[in-house]
Amino acid sequence: MQKVTAIYPGSFDPPTNGHLDLIDRGSKIFDELVVAILRNPDKSPLFNVSERAAMLEAMTGQYSNVRVDTFDGLTVDYAVNVGASCVLRGIRALTDYEYELQMALMNRKLRPELETVFMMPAEKYSYLSSRLVREVAQLGGSVKGLVPELVEQNLKGKLDPAYKLGEFAESASEKGEARKSRGRKKKS
Ligand code: PNS
Repeated sequence: MQKVTAIYPGSFDPPTNGHLDLIDRGSKIFDELVVAILRNPDKSPLFNVSERAAMLEAMTGQYSNVRVDTFDGLTVDYAVNVGASCVLRGIRALTDYEYELQMALMNRKLRPELETVFMMPAEKYSYLSSRLVREVAQLGGSVKGLVPELVEQNLKGKLDPAYKLGEFAESASEKGEARKSRGRKKKS
């Protein structure tokens, strides 16, 4: 029987447990699954492509049929170049469907030989997105259980300097206030 290779393309900024759930499901139905990170120079990502690749490699090390790669240009061209016959995408809720359908049909128009396969992540991840993870982490909220521990640590590492700067600004303004109030006391 012919080996079936699929690509799982995306931004993965950062990879979440929802992505991992889909990779796990995909690894069970495809002979080979290539997690393909889009190198998109237009976007200013939180994690650069190498950081995202390193996280995805660590997260998927236990799967012998999963590898991580990066690409630019059209997804369908990349898929054909790596010998894939399927594009795997996740659909969380109805709201994803319209965009995903549009993309799948455009990809079919470009390369009719490729099939898009939609899979649903576990319900508990149905509200989860990289964008929300970034937002929550940037605003100091907990993303525990939503991303692998490594990603959580990396988010802290990425965002800590900002917090430290925030704390510094806060304590500087507190000191400023204290100085002002000492000044006021002296005058009175
Ligand atoms: O994780 P994302 O951001 O939802 O992934 C979107 C992605 C990377 C799959 C999509 O933007 C894409 O395929 N980009 C590559 C350029 C391309 O092929 N564009 C035409 C899509 S119909």
